[in-house]
Amino acid sequence: MAIYVDAGRKRFHLDASNMSYIFEALPQGNLAHWYWGPKIRPDAGLDRRALLTPRAFSPNPVSNDERFSFDVAPQEYPTWGRGDYRSPAYQIRLSDGSAITDLAFREHRLLPGKPRLSGLPHLWLDNPLDADTLVIVLEDTLGGMTVELSYTVFSQLNALVRSATIHNHSQMPLTIERALSASVDFSHADWDWIRLTGAWGRERHVQRSALAHGLSSLGSRRGASSHQANPFIALVDPKGDETTGRVYAMNLVYSGNFVAMAEVDQFDTTRMAIGIHPFQFQWRLEPGESFQTPEAVLVFSDAGLGQMSETFHHLYRDHLMPEPWRRRERPIVLNNWEATYFDFNQERLLDLADSAAALGVEVLVLDDGWFGARNDDRTSLGDWTVNLKKLPDGISGLSQKIHQRGLKFGLWVEPEMVSPQSDLYRRHPEWCLHIPNRSLSLGRHQLVLDLARPDVTDWIIAWMTELLKEGGIDYIKWDMNRHMTEAGSELLPPERQPEVQHRYMLGLYRVLDHLTRSFPEVLFEGCSGGGGRFDPGMLYYMPQTWTSDNSDAIERLCIQYGTSLAYPAIAMTAHVSAVPNHQAGRTTPLNTRGLVAMSANFGYELDFTQLSDAEKQAISQQITMYKQLRPLVQFGAFYRLIDPHETNAAGWMFVDDKRSRAFVVWVNRLAEVGAPVRWMCLRGLSPERDYDVFVQGAEGAWEFSCRRGGDGLMELGLNRQYGSDFGAKSWYLQWPSERS
Ligand code: DGJ
Repeated sequence: MAIYVDAGRKRFHLDASNMSYIFEALPQGNLAHWYWGPKIRPDAGLDRRALLTPRAFSPNPVSNDERFSFDVAPQEYPTWGRGDYRSPAYQIRLSDGSAITDLAFREHRLLPGKPRLSGLPHLWLDNPLDADTLVIVLEDTLGGMTVELSYTVFSQLNALVRSATIHNHSQMPLTIERALSASVDFSHADWDWIRLTGAWGRERHVQRSALAHGLSSLGSRRGASSHQANPFIALVDPKGDETTGRVYAMNLVYSGNFVAMAEVDQFDTTRMAIGIHPFQFQWRLEPGESFQTPEAVLVFSDAGLGQMSETFHHLYRDHLMPEPWRRRERPIVLNNWEATYFDFNQERLLDLADSAAALGVEVLVLDDGWFGARNDDRTSLGDWTVNLKKLPDGISGLSQKIHQRGLKFGLWVEPEMVSPQSDLYRRHPEWCLHIPNRSLSLGRHQLVLDLARPDVTDWIIAWMTELLKEGGIDYIKWDMNRHMTEAGSELLPPERQPEVQHRYMLGLYRVLDHLTRSFPEVLFEGCSGGGGRFDPGMLYYMPQTWTSDNSDAIERLCIQYGTSLAYPAIAMTAHVSAVPNHQAGRTTPLNTRGLVAMSANFGYELDFTQLSDAEKQAISQQITMYKQLRPLVQFGAFYRLIDPHETNAAGWMFVDDKRSRAFVVWVNRLAEVGAPVRWMCLRGLSPERDYDVFVQGAEGAWEFSCRRGGDGLMELGLNRQYGSDFGAKSWYLQWPSERS
């Protein structure tokens, strides 16, 4: 058991692999946060009570104790209205109109392993010995409510999963106005904060700046975790980098509105918190009901951002992604979107399938435009019947023909949306999110279905089930192409309208849970105009996400680099597309496009029927190479070597568990004349072992170059001189004993 309870002092000491997290119930009842950092012994003599010191203008809730003030004390689940003027973790309005509560420690429970959440995505275990859980029950007797704080600590990883459950034990309804998942108070403010920001086509760029006094926060109010922000935040030692310095990170297992924040107060302490965005959020809790917050994943590293990412990657591969896909190699895809857009028919698709099969592709994914009268993006979302003019043999007939060619068959859907020009909208105008009598805002000519309504979610489950049963479908690309506006739901009473966006997420999760459990052999890929919903919530159901609609290899450098901070390569899909690139207009070498896409779940997004012989040869070579590299990329350790946000280049590498094989990539942006000789130091190798180093020859295949020591490769590095515009180079490393 990695959880130590000092019952006398009501002190709780949680140990993860190499990290401790400590809090205590103070005599007046509230939970004070004492410590989160490198592992220390439970009896290491920790005493943080010196933090409790009388301060002017800091109110004292206990009349005979001038030392204690919520304004000063580090809190575990901060309350509002009793003297803590920082951002609270929760706020609950009682039936008398007040929003003051006093959560006092009542009891604790220890659980082996980790309980599963119902209705929300969550981390889970195969083996209960991988983690232990502590539940702390706090009580506000006057308000008649309890809050249960759950802490799961992993034995092999420096990670903690937190969530809160609010129960109404009173006879009157309560209104939750804020319920964050985790909040931690640090005793200093000497931090940089890192967040992942962007826009459509520019997702998850890394932003880093010094934390200043006041509130620094990032969030989404868009009804989705969004392209614009990711539910991730890290506080980093200002001198820290990829390999050095302490890092404290939080990631929310949720796909809707969120806030991630860091607040520096008057005494230079920092409060870090994450949870559902309180903006326009409320939840009415009837007597006897409970509200469960999403889970927050807390990761600590004392060896920089690299170790933080390694922990997230392990957690998400082993404890988040669904079976059987978390352990399964992901296939190489040809998606017809950028090859044909809406302009395809069965014959054209079969031509694509023939050329894809000949080059070694494993799945053909048919994208948007196969249903209703959808020949552009203005119509037919909601009319999920096949367009027989384009596909005379229907979806099952097409899939049969694709299967006959030795390929698996994938299909695009966008079940959360409806086009105003559709039979569905004509039949059920009330099924979209809307406010009665108020005009509706369109996004990409479409409306958002009201997934807070059970009849809508039942309908999605029904038609998707039929499609998956009858269609011979191996792979689903689940898209979502606009954000919410006029987010009202007709079935809910006025006082419950602020619940709509969270109820939408619960409805979506219900649908995804049902479908992915019913069809575990179908590989689901998440997508929201690219990476607009790239979050742990989605990864729980759909083990990979289309990383960005921007398929330009150079633009992808920052996108994939930023994404890798929290998410493993096996969670990302990346495709080689045509040049000039359809989004950026840039022409890059096929080799560069290949290497960038090969650093994730690999595929193509171009017209295979138009390839020259040289391109066919190069692509067949890439596919062979990826099949060899696939276990390394999808299950190996990932290291960021050169940051494309700061330099003219990018570099990264993958190393297998044994450290016997590695794949290294370097991409140049612009050629430099008279540039210094530059080196790229590798990581993660065995310093005492030699490696055979292979480089790509003119034909793109690996050719033996030299034998080097792991120590030399890590300390002296590889020479990366003379890059051309958008040029790239890759190396494959192997212990000599592993060569067949
Ligand atoms: C947005 C996706 O990100 C694209 O890949 C493509 O599927 C289109 N939607 C289709 O409408």
